[in-house]
Amino acid sequence: HPYFQYRNNVLYAEDVPLDHLAERLGTPLYVYSRAALKAAWETYRSAVGQRPVQVCYGMKANSNLAVLKEFARLGAGFDIVSGGELKRALAVGADPARIVFSGVGKQAWEMRAALAAGVMCFNVESEAELQRLSDVAQETGQRARVALRVNPDVDAQTHPYISTGLKENKFGIPIGAALDAYRSARLLPGLEITGLDCHIGSQLTDISPYFDALGKLLDLVADLDGIGIRLSHLDLGGGLGIRYRDEVPPSPKALLDHVFQRLQARGHGHLRLVLEPGRSLVGNAGVLLTAVQYLKHGEARNFAIVDAAMNDLMRPALYDAWHGLRPLRPRAGDTLEYDIVGPVCESADWLARQRALALEQGDVLALESAGAYGMTMAGNYNTRPRAAEVMVDGDRYHVVRQRETLDDLLRGESTLP
Ligand code: LLP
Repeated sequence: HPYFQYRNNVLYAEDVPLDHLAERLGTPLYVYSRAALKAAWETYRSAVGQRPVQVCYGMKANSNLAVLKEFARLGAGFDIVSGGELKRALAVGADPARIVFSGVGKQAWEMRAALAAGVMCFNVESEAELQRLSDVAQETGQRARVALRVNPDVDAQTHPYISTGLKENKFGIPIGAALDAYRSARLLPGLEITGLDCHIGSQLTDISPYFDALGKLLDLVADLDGIGIRLSHLDLGGGLGIRYRDEVPPSPKALLDHVFQRLQARGHGHLRLVLEPGRSLVGNAGVLLTAVQYLKHGEARNFAIVDAAMNDLMRPALYDAWHGLRPLRPRAGDTLEYDIVGPVCESADWLARQRALALEQGDVLALESAGAYGMTMAGNYNTRPRAAEVMVDGDRYHVVRQRETLDDLLRGESTLP
């Protein structure tokens, strides 16, 4: 991770020593690198070149306003999944004409807000949603641009909880039913059909599931052509993986080269492509700093009890995910195998397991690859305030989200009169 490197035995984010941040701002602390965000964006931008591709950042991965603003400046569109995410996108001045609205359970108020903003497209996931969207659009005297999200029934070969394109998953319209759904959509007065969408899963480390899906999608595009429905865009969702440990995920360029080859070969060169990458734009641009509170040497295991927990970084508890772990100031000397665990009252509250480390109480550790699905999945279990977030930019840093206070946590609650 080039933006998080040791210098003189101290871990830095760009030109800022991380122990300095931990001391000043406390832990747990999310630290992002602006240069890493830019570099990840550049990977997509250069892969796109002159081809008609719109990259809509899947902001559920990390929706801090400073992160969003950075991508907006760089020219990104956004993939949103709620009225809340729409509010964030608009707050940073995102261009609504480059916002796609995904999600399986859109409510009427969210549709209204997105129509009022003038989003580019709704990715619709059921016939019932088509009906509601048409009704809402008609109320407001507009036509909603829609793409149908189809479920192509392909195996993304990723963790079952983040695999979304199998027929067992709740997502999308089964590909076999899609043609009929388009027929219905065409009859609804509040809708304008513009595209076709799918998203098969996340943290994909193999490119072939995309092509299984693409093949099926292009068959559908041909069928749609046959009944006079001409699409202007094809949205392949997000899902490109990142390296957490030793994965070698496909690059955006490899993906795009293959996709365009297929589009050209099948005579669909006119289709504009939309991508919705989340993790691959932010995952390796962030770390989570956490301080060792206690060392506990049990009979079976050695534990390092730290001040971050599953409420701060849920991925290990939820997906058995592996995150790299580096001390901010590595110690010489003998190592022990530690389980890194939080203070929360759950055995699932672990962050890393069986890591060989030389540790002392008070040491600060960096959990790596925490820029995606870290803070956005954080909660307040055990009445724990959520961490602060800071963005490093060269040799400077900016607190981009204050640490939550205990008063914040009690706000809005009341006892009975
Ligand atoms: N588009 C749609 C419709 C999605 O559902 C998602 C992610 C994305 C785009 C962005 O996918 P990405 O490029 O980040 O893979 N919390 C899990 C990941 C859940 C992904 C949900 N959908 C994790 O921590 O691994």
